[in-house]
Amino acid sequence: MATLSSFLHKPISDSSFNAKILCSTFDSSLVRPNLAFQGVGFRSFRLRIKGKSFQDTWVVQNSDQTGVSNECTNISDVPLLSSSEVIERLKAYRVNRKGKQNYLAMYSSVFGGITTDPATMIIPMDDHMVHRGHGVFDTAAIMDGYLYELDQHIDRFLSSASMAKISLPFEREHIRSILIQTVSASKCRQGSLRYWLSVGPGDFQLSPSGCHQSSLYAIVIQDLTPPDHKGIKVVTSTIPIKSPQFATMKNVNYLPNVLSKMEAEEKGGFAAIWLDDDGYIAEGPNMNVAFVSKENELLMPYFDKILSGCTAKRVLALADGLVKKGILAGIRVGNVTVEEGKRAKEMMLIGSGILVRPVLQWDEQVIGEGKEGPVALALLDLILGDMKTGPVSVRVPVPY
Ligand SMILES: Cc1ncc(COP(=O)(O)O)c(C=O)c1O
Repeated sequence: MATLSSFLHKPISDSSFNAKILCSTFDSSLVRPNLAFQGVGFRSFRLRIKGKSFQDTWVVQNSDQTGVSNECTNISDVPLLSSSEVIERLKAYRVNRKGKQNYLAMYSSVFGGITTDPATMIIPMDDHMVHRGHGVFDTAAIMDGYLYELDQHIDRFLSSASMAKISLPFEREHIRSILIQTVSASKCRQGSLRYWLSVGPGDFQLSPSGCHQSSLYAIVIQDLTPPDHKGIKVVTSTIPIKSPQFATMKNVNYLPNVLSKMEAEEKGGFAAIWLDDDGYIAEGPNMNVAFVSKENELLMPYFDKILSGCTAKRVLALADGLVKKGILAGIRVGNVTVEEGKRAKEMMLIGSGILVRPVLQWDEQVIGEGKEGPVALALLDLILGDMKTGPVSVRVPVPY
């Protein structure tokens, strides 16, 4: 007969009960079926069979318990790993991942340096950006080895950090230098740089008072796909818009934006357009929106309740050239009604990810002639030209 001795000194429950053995790696017929002991759940036992000692884990169930699944759960399915095994598994995980983006370098102020191994591009679980969303982020495109509008994006990044009450781990110039060095280490000439400021790692509380140091992370993503100028369809978002306090800061709480994008995709569209609380046109989930009115004016909604898009602001500056050439009659930033938007000659989405993308249909309404309009295409050319040959104020060279 086999004898059992439990390794658990402290039972989970105090009353003893007749336990039924549901599952073990040993043949439980060797053991008396109704053993009385305290507690419930997994138990590790020393098993003696014919004088030999074995250790085994058993799933035991109180005879009163009906809620516990009868399915066998073998805890040896979940291995306890050493640090080097974790790294190995992270590398193997990346080999099998579905994503198409290449991450060429990551900086983390937690480890105080840059890594080019995607398996090690990780952040601590107790970072409050992970479990509380207490973080902000921004981007900048990398074009031909230059960072486009880096300083404009850093300005917005720091303003977002201030609104989220995240103190800076370093001075602005040091942050800027880290970002450029990360791109340099990545050797990436085409793609994007993304960076985050978090209130930092510390604990799993809500208050950041246990976080002793805010953290900076940055990643370089290669993207060799040429900009797409093909017109797309948009829908009106039914996901509520973020309140101005949260929409004007680029914080990591993008669930409404994600759901809005998913809603558009479910309806065969590219993006969903938010209206503000007064019913005026606001923005898309990660882009601004603009129109060309019947009077040939470029219309863009005010930025006071939405994200102040760096690309949209640059488009406004570049569009001056189209006014001078007589292609546009003027430029107006203000409230834009849905009616005005839907009967516009042209509609377009604007952002650092898509640059300028013509919109051919909004919900059931075909926009203009249902073709990519001349102003949207001219603005896309202007932005691309600016990215390639613009002034030093918008092009920061990366020293490779
Ligand atoms: C909500 C939202 N609006 C607008 C934009 C466009 O901003 P930018 O041109 O600076 O990329 C973004 C960019 O990600 C965004 O997330």
